[in-house]
Amino acid sequence: MLALMTSPGSNGGLILADFDEPRPLANEAVVSVHATSLNRGELRLIAIRPDGFIPGQDIAGVVEKMAADGSGPAIGTRVAALVDQGGWAERVAVPTDRLTVVPDDVGFAAAATLPVAGTTALRTLRHGGELAGREVLITGASGAVGRFQVQIAREQGGLVTAVAAARHREDLRALGAGQVVESIELATGPFSLITESVGGQSLAQAIERVAPGGTIVMFGSSSGELTPVGFRQFVPGHEGARLQTFAYYASGPSIGADIASLLALVSAGRLETRIALTVPWTEIAQALEALRRRSFSGKAVLTMT
Ligand SMILES: NC(=O)c1ccc[n+]([C@@H]2O[C@H](COP(=O)([O-])OP(=O)(O)OC[C@H]3O[C@@H](n4cnc5c(N)ncnc54)[C@H](OP(=O)(O)O)[C@@H]3O)[C@@H](O)[C@H]2O)c1
Repeated sequence: MLALMTSPGSNGGLILADFDEPRPLANEAVVSVHATSLNRGELRLIAIRPDGFIPGQDIAGVVEKMAADGSGPAIGTRVAALVDQGGWAERVAVPTDRLTVVPDDVGFAAAATLPVAGTTALRTLRHGGELAGREVLITGASGAVGRFQVQIAREQGGLVTAVAAARHREDLRALGAGQVVESIELATGPFSLITESVGGQSLAQAIERVAPGGTIVMFGSSSGELTPVGFRQFVPGHEGARLQTFAYYASGPSIGADIASLLALVSAGRLETRIALTVPWTEIAQALEALRRRSFSGKAVLTMT
């Protein structure tokens, strides 16, 4: 089968080449991939993984072979899934608890935007507990995860402040942000929950805005910057606040069930999947470059068929 694999020196660090067919474990179905989407973390993975690594975490496609243990949907079923790697290929083996059926009225491209970004949004917000009537601050709000967080937090009754460049203001307000501020310094708070993915000064400023007993969920460092953190930043004024790290791959079972709940929201018209760019997978270098340059807000989707 064809797959995009790391090959330093090639255009974008990847080449489309022949690769062995996936060899599924008993609990894995083989899915024929129709669409996938890019995630910012994959830029780093492409740079650090050895030659011959197949990236790709978000997939939408059709079950080509059922899991040998009988779990999961039948051959021919349209599915979406989150895999740790190997998704940028014609076929991939997927543990059946990582996949779910795609409703008929949701396209493959929209479904492919959800696995990493959508489950990350859903699960980071869960660290805030009951959000109804509570102040929620979302950094990186114009990004793929941030846009889902704004919508889901609002859906759950949270009072959302989004941190994003001014050009995103109307868009984010339409998605449900009560306030949009250009920098975190302009967010007043205090906030019961802060989702933080920019790092550096943004995380330092988040600590100054968290309510006593509140939670900051750290799940990224898009700036690549570190933050000095110490007890005195929390006291006085933020006693009992929690710095919670989050990585989707260590966030517990039932990822397929969470993708299903996101797909249900999309199907009901209550969650917008912003597909900013759609290109055939042979044009991946163009999509990766656009992601690197931060030239779009939302998701870049690759189509395989
Ligand atoms: N821990 C996990 O499991 C997990 C899962 C998914 C994502 N992540 C991480 O979470 C972050 C957000 O993911 P995403 O898919 O939403 O990414 P994305 O679509 O590229 O969004 C990045 C967001 O951060 C903002 N930003 C501010 N300063 C930035 C900088 N110096 N460089 C890049 N972006 C900057 C961007 O604003 P502009 O509009 O100005 O570009 C945009 O709103 C990434 O760091 C990603 O690696 C972690």
